[in-house]
Amino acid sequence: MGVADLVALGVERHEARWLVEEFATRPDADQSTLLAAARRRLAGEPLQYVIGHWPFRALDLDVDPRVLIPRPETEEMVDVALGELSGADRAPLIVDLGCGSGALGLAILDELRSRGVGGALIAVDESTAALDVARANARKHALTAVSFVASSWFDALDHSLRSRVDLVVANPPYVGDSEMADLDPVLGHEPRGALVSPDARGVVGFEDLSIIVDEAFEWLRPGASLVVEHGVGHREALRGLTSARGYVDVRGVDDLSGRPRVFVARRPT
Ligand SMILES: C[S@@+](CC[C@H](N)C(=O)[O-])C[C@H]1O[C@@H](n2cnc3c(N)ncnc32)[C@H](O)[C@@H]1O
Repeated sequence: MGVADLVALGVERHEARWLVEEFATRPDADQSTLLAAARRRLAGEPLQYVIGHWPFRALDLDVDPRVLIPRPETEEMVDVALGELSGADRAPLIVDLGCGSGALGLAILDELRSRGVGGALIAVDESTAALDVARANARKHALTAVSFVASSWFDALDHSLRSRVDLVVANPPYVGDSEMADLDPVLGHEPRGALVSPDARGVVGFEDLSIIVDEAFEWLRPGASLVVEHGVGHREALRGLTSARGYVDVRGVDDLSGRPRVFVARRPT
C-alpha cells in the first residue's frame, strides 16, 4: 500500500506521504497497521495522535490523546522563557505548570543543556495520565533533572520551595466554555481539561490564568519571572491582575502572526 492508495481512500496527499514514510520506518508495521492509521485519520483524529509523536523545538515528543498536541505558538514561548533566564548566575529551578506532554519545560531544560547550563525542572499537572506522557518524554531525551508532581497548580508543591523558583512557565487552559463550539472540531480529540477554563473576573476562560498569576508570586524568587501563554483577549486582564498583585516589568509578547499570546511579569527584587 502506497501514497496513491491512501489518497484513493480520501487521505490528503501530503498526509498520505507522511503516513507512508512514518510506517516505513517501523519494523513492526505492516500494511494493516498503515491502513488502520489511515482510517483513524479519515475518522478525524489528528495526524499527531495517529503517528504518536510530534516535533517541538529540538525535541521529538511522544503525544497521544492523554495530552494536548504541542502548538507552534508555544514554541515561541521557549525563547521568551530562555530570555528571562539569561542573566541567571546559577542553575535555575523551573516550574512548568500544566506540563501536558512536557513540551515547554523539557524544551527549556534541553536548550539550557545545549548551552552548557544545568537546571532542574518541576513538571506539574493535575492529570496523572499527562504526567506519564511527560515522564516518558523526559526519559526519551535523557533529561534527568526533572520531578513530576500531580497537583492542581501549586497546591501539592513542597512549601520549602516558596520564594526559590527562578522561572514559572505555564500554558494553562484558557478557552471559555462558550468559545469551544466555534473552534475547530478537531479540538474535540484533545483532553477538554487541557483546553477549557471557567470564566473569572468577568473574563471568558480566565480562571486558571488568574489563579496562576495570584499564586506564582509567592513561589518566585525575588527578581524571577512568570511567563504564561494566554488567549488573545486576555492581555489587558493580565496587565491589571499582575500589576495589582505587585509584579513589575509586566509586558505582553505577540506571536509571529502579531496576536497577543504571551505575558511576562517579574516579582520585584
Ligand atoms: C493547554 S495544556 C498545555 C500542555 C503543555 N504545557 C503544552 O504547552 O503543550 C494545559 C495543561 O494543564 C493541565 N491542567 C489543567 N488544569 C490544571 C490544574 N488545575 N492544575 C494543574 N494542571 C492543570 C492539563 O491537564 C493540561 O495538561
